[in-house]
Amino acid sequence: MPVGTLATVKAVTPAQLKATAAQMVLANTYHLHLQPGEELIAKAGGLHRFMAWEGPMLTDSGGFQVFSLSSLRQIAESGVTFRSPRDGRMIELTPERSIQIQNTLGADVIMAFDECPPYPAPREAVAAATARTYRWLERCITTHARPAEQALFGIVQGGVHLDLRQEAAQRLAALDLPGYAIGGVSVGEPSELIAQIVQATAPLLPARKPRYLMGIGTYREMAQAIAAGIDLFDCVIPTRLARHGSVLVQGERWNIKNAQFREDFAPLDATCSCYTCQTFSRAYLGHLWRTKELLVFTLLSIHNLTELIRFTQEIRQAIFKGTFATEFAHWLLPAQG
Ligand code: GUN
Ligand code: ZN
Repeated sequence: MPVGTLATVKAVTPAQLKATAAQMVLANTYHLHLQPGEELIAKAGGLHRFMAWEGPMLTDSGGFQVFSLSSLRQIAESGVTFRSPRDGRMIELTPERSIQIQNTLGADVIMAFDECPPYPAPREAVAAATARTYRWLERCITTHARPAEQALFGIVQGGVHLDLRQEAAQRLAALDLPGYAIGGVSVGEPSELIAQIVQATAPLLPARKPRYLMGIGTYREMAQAIAAGIDLFDCVIPTRLARHGSVLVQGERWNIKNAQFREDFAPLDATCSCYTCQTFSRAYLGHLWRTKELLVFTLLSIHNLTELIRFTQEIRQAIFKGTFATEFAHWLLPAQG
């Protein structure tokens, strides 16, 4: 899922996004509540209509963003209170409020309001956050007013403690939700631990339901997670890299401003079917970057999204053929060095 935090995948139109083969787009409760507010989006006819994206949408619940973006936050059993970075007023986000906002926004998949403990944190603190996340999930389920139209996914927390993860996964699986997520990863822990967490947790979540690994990832993280049973990812990497001039080419990261591309009239990737690679040269993209032309953000974002989605499509084909483990062996090993 490309990330469209503020009801836009930065620098990319919905038609361009559709052409990348993106299926679902992620937006954010925290950001959209602050600006422009869910009532305005409801007046526009809901999130899909507002941003003119006809495909599936998912909203994250806001909990994670409050923890990572807001100052002066206070966490209590009722929920989280924080100061709005926009106008300084105090805002309370609770499981009930988050679900009401997500019901109003109208995405196809909505996420439970969870508490993502920092890393590192004492085991007792992680255990408390994981238990609270479960109690908050029960409140989310009770509040959810549109279960026939919007699928509510639960989120497994538990930090790097595999026993806490497994206990949480088993308790969630028993609730028979329409989908499940693994949260609280990529918060500063070593990347081998992410693979261990996913390998210990994903198999305990129902294989017949979508299993979503939040905030991941890189080629390697995705390949390893898919091997453990993960179906769904969201990540800012392809679009954020593009805005820094970085391009993903056949599993590597290059920077378009590099002098070696100045007179290179080949496409970014001759095997890529995206509009950027079908139309423009590395030399032209480097020129746009050096002259600070805005089009470069759009063209690099289109390519990076297409490339990462192609990677997952190739894995899907390999799974069907029974060749995933051999064809992707390079990505299934821990990173070198
Ligand atoms: N996005 C990335 N990680 C998380 C998480 O742990 N919880 C939520 N709600 N969103 C996330
Ligand atoms: Zn391309």
